[in-house]
Amino acid sequence: MAWNPNTYNKFKSDRFLPFFDLAALIEIKPNLEVIDLGCGTGELTRKLADMLPDSKVLGVDSSQEMLNDTREFENAQVHFEKRSIEEQLQSGSKWDLVFSNAAIQWVKNHKSLLPEIISSIKSGGQLAIQLPAQNHNLTNRMLSDLASDPLFEPLFKSWDRADTVLNIDDYAELLFENEGRDITVFEKIYPLVLNDSDALFDWVSGTALIPYLEKLDDQNKQNFINEYKSRLKSRFPKTPVFFPFKRILMKATF
Ligand SMILES: C[S@@+](CC[C@H](N)C(=O)[O-])C[C@H]1O[C@@H](n2cnc3c(N)ncnc32)[C@H](O)[C@@H]1O
Repeated sequence: MAWNPNTYNKFKSDRFLPFFDLAALIEIKPNLEVIDLGCGTGELTRKLADMLPDSKVLGVDSSQEMLNDTREFENAQVHFEKRSIEEQLQSGSKWDLVFSNAAIQWVKNHKSLLPEIISSIKSGGQLAIQLPAQNHNLTNRMLSDLASDPLFEPLFKSWDRADTVLNIDDYAELLFENEGRDITVFEKIYPLVLNDSDALFDWVSGTALIPYLEKLDDQNKQNFINEYKSRLKSRFPKTPVFFPFKRILMKATF
């Protein structure tokens, strides 16, 4: 997918907050071997490493664009490799801490993904994951509705847009069934206060909009953007725009 670190970084401080909430769930121990699945630009991977004394942290991501500037966050503790989450899990390597912030929503079938991730955790190791509660977030539902509109539906026909993100009850059960202990799973609203609906469009364009635009040619891309912006404006006419962005955080020991 064509990720753009500049667009993504526009809302850096808003995107950092859930990372700090997730990191606060980790039991800090020295000498951990850690993997950050879907590490993006690497800035948060480095922050994670800085919290874990004498630990080694590997960040993996499938997007070369996002990884391009990771060198500035590398040091003796932190390294980055271009690899998909799926490939990483197939490698069979095991970790004291598997961490993933705002990434696994891009991987399908969480009922099989979670057990695969958990099988990459060493005995006594930890799992810490944050992901947006996609099906609850109105901006995501509006994208999906627009793609189902007769205007655009034929263009997306062969694309499976099925929601990957489960309910928190399902995640809690998956953690338990895979021998998780000290399970914490919760949803949290991260309030976004934005200048206007165009700023909300900018927020969505850093992530959820990307796979939709990728499927369209230039003319249809612009039509889709115009119609989405217009729908956002009708739905969020007031300024500033308040948007309650809902995320899921989970942590367990295995
Ligand atoms: C919203 S960004 C989050 C990046 C970083 N974890 C952060 O919190 O800033 C999602 C990242 O997941 C990566 N990603 C999406 N699908 C992936 C996959 N299947 N394998 C590896 N990385 C993936 C994207 O390239 C992107 O960098």
